Amino acid sequence: MKKHLLSIDDVSADDVATLFETAAEMHDVQRRQVKKLPALRGRTVINLFFEDSTRTRSSFEIAGKWLSADTINITGKGSSASKGESLRDTVLTIAAMGVDALVMRHAASGSALQVSQWVDAAVINAGDGTHEHPSQALLDAYTLQRRFGTDGRLGSLEGRHVVLVGDLTHSRVFRSNVLCLTKLGAQVSVVAPPTLMPSGVEPWSKELGFATSYDLDEVLPTADAVMMLRVQRERMSGGYFPSAREYTVGYGLTRDRLATLGPDVPICHPGPMNRGLEIAADAADAAQSLVLDQVSAGLAVRMSILYHLLAGEGSTS
Ligand code: NCD
Repeated sequence: MKKHLLSIDDVSADDVATLFETAAEMHDVQRRQVKKLPALRGRTVINLFFEDSTRTRSSFEIAGKWLSADTINITGKGSSASKGESLRDTVLTIAAMGVDALVMRHAASGSALQVSQWVDAAVINAGDGTHEHPSQALLDAYTLQRRFGTDGRLGSLEGRHVVLVGDLTHSRVFRSNVLCLTKLGAQVSVVAPPTLMPSGVEPWSKELGFATSYDLDEVLPTADAVMMLRVQRERMSGGYFPSAREYTVGYGLTRDRLATLGPDVPICHPGPMNRGLEIAADAADAAQSLVLDQVSAGLAVRMSILYHLLAGEGSTS
């Protein structure tokens, strides 16, 4: 494993397998009444979040606590960043306290990489603008491997057709997920309206070997898993689609589309969901929905990430 987790490019398929093996053990810990493991006793993990978060921040915080690390949360709004302090000064201040890991989320793409060049601590990218969100992609892949496995053993994504649908232009989850899913041998299709299909996706799709489409109804019948992505209005400056209704008709996982999916086809969404826009309540709450499984898997995967970055041997860069 490398020292930082900034991108899915930082982990090999073998690293992912190792991370998931540990995550499966951590998952068992979640079912115990007493969840603490001593692995990171005496280590300090700072969650530095300049963008809002429910799942990712609490999940990293609990993951650190269950491994006995001291975890502290700093948010943009409650920190001196709101008084005009630069990102560099903020992270150097935190690093001067001798932290071991910095889990960070920031609106600027590339910010995690930049910070990793300023500090000695291991940096985990918990979302940098529209660029990447590697721990989310890892937990998504782990959730699907569990779903496709039997007897509690992880299954394989090799040859499985995973369909990602939504606001791809603004989605760091999309970028990390195509890297991760193709690395694990899945067959990936991404679907979006033309205005939300990122420019430059064609050469990238050729390089990684994933398919692009504007037609959800054509792709959906061959899906082995569907991943719905949020319409990120906070990142939109203009009109990307005429109306919410039109978006739902073309690209929402509506009740009608749910009926065309096999009952065993898992439905994922990283959250937070816009119910009624990209996903109907019937789909979000369906028996085949893995939305809450993703959340609990997220904890196990983040415990594993912290464990391997901080307690593991052989940090190389
Ligand atoms: C995602 C994010 O923040 O990038 N959410 C998450 O981490 N669970 C996706 C989103 O905000 O739509």
